[in-house]
Amino acid sequence: MRASQLLLVLLCFFSSYAPSSFCANVTYDHRALVIDGKRRVLISGSIHYPRSTPEMWPDLIQKSKDGGLDVIETYVFWNLHEPVQGQYNFEGRGDLVRFVKAVAAAGLYVHLRIGPYACAEWNYGGFPLWLHFIPGIQFRTDNEPFKSEMKRFTAKIVDMMKQENLYASQGGPIILSQVENEYGNIEAAYGPAAKSYVNWAASMATSLDTGVPWVMCQQEDAPDPIINTCNGFYCDQFEPNSKAKPKMWTESYPGWLLTFGDALPHRPVEDLAFAVARFFQRGGTFQNYYMYHGGTNFGRTAGGPFVSSSYDYDAPIDEYGIIRQPKWGHLKDVHKAIKLCEKALIATDPIITSLGSNTEAAVYKTGAVCAAFLANIATSDATVIFSGNSYHLPAWSVSILPDCKNVVLNTAKIDSASMISSFTAVSLKEEVGSLNDPGSGWSWISEPIGISKADSFSKFGLLEQINTTADRSDYLWYSLSINLDAGTQTLLHIKSLGHALHAFINGKLVGSRTGNHAKPNVNVDIPIKLVSGKNTIDLLSLTVGLQNYGAFFDTWGAGITGPVILKGLKNGTTLDLSSLQWTYQVGLKGEDLGLSNGSSGQWNSKSTLPINQPLTWYKTSFVAPSGSNPVAIDFTGMGKGEAWVNGQSIGRYWPTYVSPKGGCTHSCNYRGSYLPSKCLKNCGKPTQTLYHVPRSWLKPHSNTLVLFEESGGNPMKISFATKQIESICSHISESHPPPVDSWNSNRESGRKVGSVLSLECPYPNQVISSIKFASFGTPYGTCGNFKHGPCRSNKSLSIVQKACIGSRNCRIELSINSFGDPCKGVAKSLAVEASCA
Ligand code: GAL
Repeated sequence: MRASQLLLVLLCFFSSYAPSSFCANVTYDHRALVIDGKRRVLISGSIHYPRSTPEMWPDLIQKSKDGGLDVIETYVFWNLHEPVQGQYNFEGRGDLVRFVKAVAAAGLYVHLRIGPYACAEWNYGGFPLWLHFIPGIQFRTDNEPFKSEMKRFTAKIVDMMKQENLYASQGGPIILSQVENEYGNIEAAYGPAAKSYVNWAASMATSLDTGVPWVMCQQEDAPDPIINTCNGFYCDQFEPNSKAKPKMWTESYPGWLLTFGDALPHRPVEDLAFAVARFFQRGGTFQNYYMYHGGTNFGRTAGGPFVSSSYDYDAPIDEYGIIRQPKWGHLKDVHKAIKLCEKALIATDPIITSLGSNTEAAVYKTGAVCAAFLANIATSDATVIFSGNSYHLPAWSVSILPDCKNVVLNTAKIDSASMISSFTAVSLKEEVGSLNDPGSGWSWISEPIGISKADSFSKFGLLEQINTTADRSDYLWYSLSINLDAGTQTLLHIKSLGHALHAFINGKLVGSRTGNHAKPNVNVDIPIKLVSGKNTIDLLSLTVGLQNYGAFFDTWGAGITGPVILKGLKNGTTLDLSSLQWTYQVGLKGEDLGLSNGSSGQWNSKSTLPINQPLTWYKTSFVAPSGSNPVAIDFTGMGKGEAWVNGQSIGRYWPTYVSPKGGCTHSCNYRGSYLPSKCLKNCGKPTQTLYHVPRSWLKPHSNTLVLFEESGGNPMKISFATKQIESICSHISESHPPPVDSWNSNRESGRKVGSVLSLECPYPNQVISSIKFASFGTPYGTCGNFKHGPCRSNKSLSIVQKACIGSRNCRIELSINSFGDPCKGVAKSLAVEASCA
């Protein structure tokens, strides 16, 4: 033991942090993380603290715990914590210590991915922009200026955690840390220096003596003792780089990220559950959902380019903090089923055998303990013989047998309730009086077109945008005044690295163009009318979140790097404007004036409200929607911009960016390998119309909403929406295994519990208030749309009502003893839709 480790252990005994906690010794071996000498099977989920509010954290963490998680994972976001070199911010949504303590308070562990490169669809991958301007710096390679900053920040975070006694070795919740992130994916591009960088990062991390193991994800050559881990939609085939390291999965995707201009990714839970079970089947012992709660990219934190403000991720807990059913519930059952096998999983390695084509058994057996996983990796059903018994395996599924004999769960059979949630439109109630405006309740300020700030400057040639703005703003003006001989059919040709631009000629918007996530560049010919003599060309170029992934992503660049050409001037001549003297303005006048918090005195409310006017700031004061349901603003009717509620930015809004028409399917078949393009929703519709406003940012009255609208919209069309759960549903067949929960009691009592339908209201203060549908027999359809089949028991409704009404949860056994048998010899099921109040 090194002296510093000894110190940690000593500290541990004197730790004041959590009196009930004890210091844990975390190590690992080839099977698992070992906590206090015991191998552990751990289920983890990502919640990124700045993507929700401190007020939301305890509830999100509790829902994670209820969903069967043992660990909460988060990145640490360098640019949030050190926006200016040497000036730190750990306040509000950046209160990392508070977050880690909230996880500890719920009794869960923490995996702290310090990076400090995060990726994470976070602006610039989490790097502060000032880093880019350090002389001689090269990111993520064997470069002294970079390494020294990376070490300084990593050590700063580790020290902060140590000071608060947050490492497990000190009695805290942190059992694991990550350095770098998926460097292996791009390592080759960095040549031989990459290897020395990886080795340096590994020894830098270990030298910080956290007392807990470090991981590097997607890093085949992670040097000992760092554990290399897997990220992906499936990680069952992954093997760590040493026989002494456990098989760990740091990013298991429940869905995928959303980008403006694209359709909404959806991953069916049957496939996700299959992937998770396959991982544990083939020797895995640690699995993390990326994301378990995705949340919101508030402010300008979205990476990109073009990452949307919603970071919902189709995660088990939705953006608003509501459990997503049946995803959350089915995974909860999967976690329980896996935990029933924990004894066997940690005792030995699996023996894997083929049961026929595309079917496979894994058996963990030693002494009296035995657990088995039976997988069908084909896209059609199969029946297999295992240990002398016959098992039906639905296509693309895993059956889990905690005693090597009885199936406790099949990943394709969902026991969990599903849910219909919906948004109710609530009109925006302006507080007219507060603005002295008898009309609309809105006031406004026009943002000047072109150069208006004193700090503008002139340069010959076209400048790259990120090097010019240092990301202080999304906006950079490129302006030029020039004497011309006007032609009749002039084209303004602009080539830009992206991400979007608006072109103004003589103070009029003549055209706008945008790139997208796959192709951020803009290359455009805009027909324009010039006057003979002096003309002003004002080009507003904008970024929509800085690149966060890829080799050398930090140097990709944006903005109008040219050429900019006028085609078809008088006599058909062409004029290249690229190397002329342009005047530049970083950011908007309104940004400098601090209009976003609404307090500036120059708001105009007397004359008619400008509608569909580009570059307009709008402000209103409003009454918060009543109740406690989550709140969103529906920006339909607006173009593109950013919005602030009581001075807090809720993110970039862009309801006019519509996804391509094609690519969605009506039905989504979970069978077969998943890709984000497989089960897309929302094709041909706006990527995002609803934007989350955390309840804690609202007061009952006198809330200020400020918008900066770039392209033009009608703020009178803005409304609020609140999200609520309309119905809970479940549909269980007689062939469903009994609930995972009844496994132990079934075995102890020897009584065979049949299939059970269970329902539970999502909130603790609710009870089931009505049964909208109940049918035992051959019902069909989906939640909200169930129909009776040809066979039905006429007692269905009364039995379900009796069992459920007035209770928070209820369980109904599918038994012909109670329901009677409406159709002998036919496979029956029970479908129920209920509402809670
Ligand atoms: C991974 C990365 C994550 C996140 C994810 C996509 O490559 O490690 O940080 O960006 O992709 O959501």
